[in-house]
This record gives sequence, C-alpha cells and structure tokens, in this order.
Amino acid sequence: MSGPMLGKRRIAVFGAGYIGLVTGACFAQLGHDVVVRDIQQERVEILRSGGVPIHEDGLASLIAENAEHLTFTLDAEEAVRDAEVVYVCVDTPSTPSGDADLSRIWQVIDTLRDARHLMAVAVKSTVPVGTGARVRAEMDRAGLEHVGYASNPEFTAEGKAVRDFMRPDRVVIGADDPETAKLIAQLHEGVDGPIAQMDVRSAEMVKLAANALLATKISFANEIATICEATGADVEQVVHAVGLDHRLGPHFMRPGVGWGGSCFPKDSRALRALAGNAGYSFQLLTSVIEVNDLQPRRAIQRLKDELGGVFHNRTVALLGVAFKPGTDDVREAPSVIIASRLLSEGADVRCWDPLVRQLGSAPWSSTTRCATPLEAMTGADAAIIVTEWPELQDVAWGEAAEIMARPLVFDGRNLLDPQRMASLGFTYMSVGRETVRGEV
Ligand code: UDX
Repeated sequence: MSGPMLGKRRIAVFGAGYIGLVTGACFAQLGHDVVVRDIQQERVEILRSGGVPIHEDGLASLIAENAEHLTFTLDAEEAVRDAEVVYVCVDTPSTPSGDADLSRIWQVIDTLRDARHLMAVAVKSTVPVGTGARVRAEMDRAGLEHVGYASNPEFTAEGKAVRDFMRPDRVVIGADDPETAKLIAQLHEGVDGPIAQMDVRSAEMVKLAANALLATKISFANEIATICEATGADVEQVVHAVGLDHRLGPHFMRPGVGWGGSCFPKDSRALRALAGNAGYSFQLLTSVIEVNDLQPRRAIQRLKDELGGVFHNRTVALLGVAFKPGTDDVREAPSVIIASRLLSEGADVRCWDPLVRQLGSAPWSSTTRCATPLEAMTGADAAIIVTEWPELQDVAWGEAAEIMARPLVFDGRNLLDPQRMASLGFTYMSVGRETVRGEV
C-alpha cells in the first residue's frame, strides 16, 4: 500500500556543481520532483540541452533517465515557487583567513524570504559549526519560523559520488526538531545506508571531523614514507601490514605527493580556523596540513638532486593533472604546486592528463599540453607521475625509456613496480621506497 512514492516531494536544489547535480539527480532517481538552480547561465544551458558540464561516473545516465522530473533553471523564484524542501549545495570556498566563505549560502537564504510555503531548508554544503544556528536565526527574522532547518552533510568522493549517495556508509541528519529530521529521512527512502540522526551542530562537526581524520591518515602515511626513505624500509609493505589491523584498516594510507581536491584542503583549513577562532590551536591538524604542503615540494627537491641540482634547461613530463584519477577536477591538485615549482626552477614542462580539458590559466599556460604519456616523455629528462591514472600502468615503458633523453621516473603515487622499471633501464624514484637504478 505505502509504495516509495508516498514520500514523494518537490525539491529545489541550489547549486549545480558536483554536489548539487549528484544530489538533484539522485533525489530524482528516488522518485522526487527536482529542480536544480544555478547562477551560471552556460551551465544551465548545457544541462537543459541534455549535456552534463562535469565528469562524474553514472551521473549523465542518471540525469537522462530522470529527465521528466529533473529540471534546471537560472531563476531562483521559479525554483522555490513549488518546492517543499530547499537543498543548499552551493560552494563554500576558503577565505584568506581560512574560514569558509558563506556568502553563497546567504544569497540562497535571502531568496527564500517569501517562501512561507516551504517545509524545510537543508544545507549540504560544508560549513563551520554554528552556521545552522545563524541560518535558523535569519530564517526566524524573515518570518520563516515554521520552516524546518537541517544539516545533511555530504560525504561523497568525486568519481564515486552517485554510488556514495545511493549506498552511503551513513546519512547524517542534523535537525533540532523531530519533524524536520523525519522529513529529511523520508526523502532518503530507497537509499541503502544507516541514518545517523543528531543535533545540527554535531552534524556540521561530523563532516569536518571525518575529512580531517582522513587527511590525517594520509599525512601520517606520508610521514612514515619519509622515515622509510631515511631508514631503508619499504612504505608499501609497512602500510599494507599496518592496515591489516582491523582497528586501523587499509584505507586512506596510500603515500604520495599529497592530498588535494575540493574538500580536504578547504575543510582542514576551515576546521583549523574554527578552532583558532575559538582560541584553540589545533596543533595536530596544523601539522597534518604542513606535511601535505611539503609533500610535493620534497618530491621536486629529490628529483632536482637526482638531476644534478638543476632544472634549468631540463624537460620534465608531468603525468596526471587531476587531483585524483577518475575526475577532471584540478582544484588544489598537487600537480599545480609541482608544475609551478618546476617552472620557477626553469624547467620545460610537458603535461598529460586523460580527462582534464581546460588548462588555460597559470601555471598550465606555460606548459606544453600532450595527447599521450609517450608524447609528454619524448625528449624529457625526467617524468613525474602525479595522478595514479590506470592508463599509466599500461604505458609502453620500454619505449618510454628509449624516447626519453634520460630514463628517469619519479613515481609520486607508487603506481609502478620498481623492479620492472629498473629492468627496463630506468632510474626509478618513488615515495617511501628505495630508489632503484637500472642498467642502461
Ligand atoms: C573527499 C572525501 O573522501 C569525501 O568524503 C568528502 O566528501 C570530500 O573529500 P574527494 O576529495 O573526492 O573526497 O577525494 P578522495 O578520494 O577522498 O581523495 C582526496 C585526496 O586524497 C586525493 O588528492 C587523493 O589522491 C588523496 N589520497 C587519498 C591520498 O593521497 N592517499 C590516500 O590513501 C587516499
């Protein structure tokens, strides 16, 4: 009798970025009527004509399948007119103080002033603890006391966002009244994962704490890698065996040139700023961030030493630009620091990435774009793997050794097998493992 359609709602999603589009498409898939609103005309036009402006696994087909009850608009009033629930999925970039810039959230809240018909406003954007209380007060002032407020943070990893929405480890719902909590839980009917219900402030903190701990695990693995380099241990063996302890687990301990992306850097700075604003110095997190800042710089220094202390007049192939494989996102990618460092040391940089299309601005405008890894490595004095694209495992490395001016690879993601690379004649450097030198 009570099919899933019983809880069908009309949802307005603000923001057609990674999170907003995935949220909108997934809610439509769950049977709700969804309108997604964005301020970028070009983005909305692409979506209206059936295109998808970002690369995210499964998203294009989900949008196409649900075209009947998933629409896109530039017009905020139109989006809100028939909505029962508003989802706020706008971005909250870092400000110079490290705090999150909430201006886009406030712009959305401003457009809701006359929306007395709403049942609830839910914020998915990552925000400092206490934001919900401020939004609540603003809504109360605007005469929206009867409209519920919820914090419903996302834990989606790019590239797996649709799966993370439909089959999450948990759905966190923070609401200070039971009706709103129930409403938001009902919207998720059909989602395969447990619901963790709590007050708004705690929900806001869960997101920041989870990302900080994940970033901590990676920086810890990177610290261990550095000590492995100094002592002759092999970090891959160490991390594997450490991860077999069920209390620790194997995840997020892959050493490399550091974490990037739209979340970890911004959210760790936001949590540090939040603590600092309260007069508390979050020293552990400060170190986690510092370790990550140093990771790409250390890689460049090691490579420079190997090249005899100079990059000037050397050509370096930079393999992988995206902050991780499976995405075209370059936000706060280690590749940006690596390319900038190489250029400022006077190197010629030839870069390759299978998905990243738009590389117009600095530092990329000063690099040469190549269509294949082999093209990037032609005549190069060194290659540095920055993103662990699976394609890089299939490169004809024997051929690469021939076409490079010098067979030197710095594997910033420990993607390749050192013995194999040495057998092909490479000097092969990686993170937390001994450098191997092939016979040329
Ligand atoms: C992350 C969180 O996983 C997600 O829950 C949150 O909502 C947003 O931030 P995302 O940024 O998409 O998601 O990517 P993720 O796969 O978590 O990787 C983040 C960064 O850490 C990447 O730069 C990746 O290369 C790096 N990383 C990850 C490592 O260096 N080592 C690891 O072991 C894991």
